[in-house]
Amino acid sequence: MAKDPVRILVTGAAGQIGYALVPMIARGTILGPDQPVILHLLDIPPAAESLNGVKMELVDAAFPLLKGVVATTNVVEACKDVNIAIMVGGFPRKEGMERKDVMSKNVSIYKEQASALDQYAAANVKILVVANPANTNALILKEFAPSIPEKNITCLTRLDHNRALGQVSERAGVPVSHVKNVIIWGNHSSTQYPDVNHAVIITSEGAKPVRTVIDDNAWLDGDFITTVQQRGAAIIKARKLSSALSAASSACDHIRDWVLGTPKDVWVSMGVYSDGSYGVPPGLIYSYPVTCAGGQWMIVQGLSIDEFSRAKLDATAAELAEEKAMAYLCL
Ligand code: NAD
Ligand code: LMR
Repeated sequence: MAKDPVRILVTGAAGQIGYALVPMIARGTILGPDQPVILHLLDIPPAAESLNGVKMELVDAAFPLLKGVVATTNVVEACKDVNIAIMVGGFPRKEGMERKDVMSKNVSIYKEQASALDQYAAANVKILVVANPANTNALILKEFAPSIPEKNITCLTRLDHNRALGQVSERAGVPVSHVKNVIIWGNHSSTQYPDVNHAVIITSEGAKPVRTVIDDNAWLDGDFITTVQQRGAAIIKARKLSSALSAASSACDHIRDWVLGTPKDVWVSMGVYSDGSYGVPPGLIYSYPVTCAGGQWMIVQGLSIDEFSRAKLDATAAELAEEKAMAYLCL
């Protein structure tokens, strides 16, 4: 029997991530080839004509799984009954800007949209915030959507996770699918800590720690970390636009794993509401290693944290606490 369609909201759908993301969703990249979807696309009035163009292209692409498109500038209509919300709407960072610079523009958007999701989305809505500052926007959304369980509100650090997999794979000369269990700790910003201490590479002799395959601790503790931390800025410098296809693809990875589950023995990174795990202060949206099953994420527990890592986990937590305080000032 055909499944009922799932309603998926994409905000900022007329923007560049939106344009890359909506065809991926309509093709079944997130929920699989037998799950029909109805897309809800939200943007602001100046982008209404462009948004309508995206809707026209979705119709023209004749995606078999796409059972409807609601393209609107009305936030209530956009949020009505949605099961999944991918929050991309906001203003991107330009060359030379830090994420803090986009804070005042974007956090107020998330306060307003929190209320609409709180009142009109499906009761079990799963929310992924992509727009920067992603962790803090997600936190503001959580604070102003009191009826949505905090476990249902997450932010995107999967792009950073995938970037870390990519760097290790290039350095080791192995396919990226053979690299597993890197971790992004903390903020989706240049203070994030990409950690390979528990990561493995699948070789013909089985899984081996990354540090034994890449016998170069200076690189792993130095350039590897800064390359991943600064990758967003490097893309902006090269494209004069922030990352879009990789952001869209990683957003699909995040939702797919959350809804359908992570593969056996694999964890991924997600920005989630901290419960104090690994000595991170509760009350922040912090990126952790997680596994997912039955539509729920769980923080991977019990990993050893050395002194080098401890300082990095604390530094990115301190930045998030500072961003939280700044966000409240902006509001
Ligand atoms: P973009 O400017 O191309 O698109 C953003 C869209 O959001 C625009 O169409 C704009 O009109 C719309 N918008 C603005 N205010 C809105 C509102 N109140 N409601 C609905 N829509 C609204 O930007 P982009 O390149 O698509 O990037 C979107 C966001 O994602 C930026 O904040 C960017 O920094 C962030 N980003 C995050 C990651 C990540 O890994 N977390 C990666 C890349 C980009
Ligand atoms: C990215 O990581 O590519 C985005 O968050 C863009 C940015 O501002 O770095």
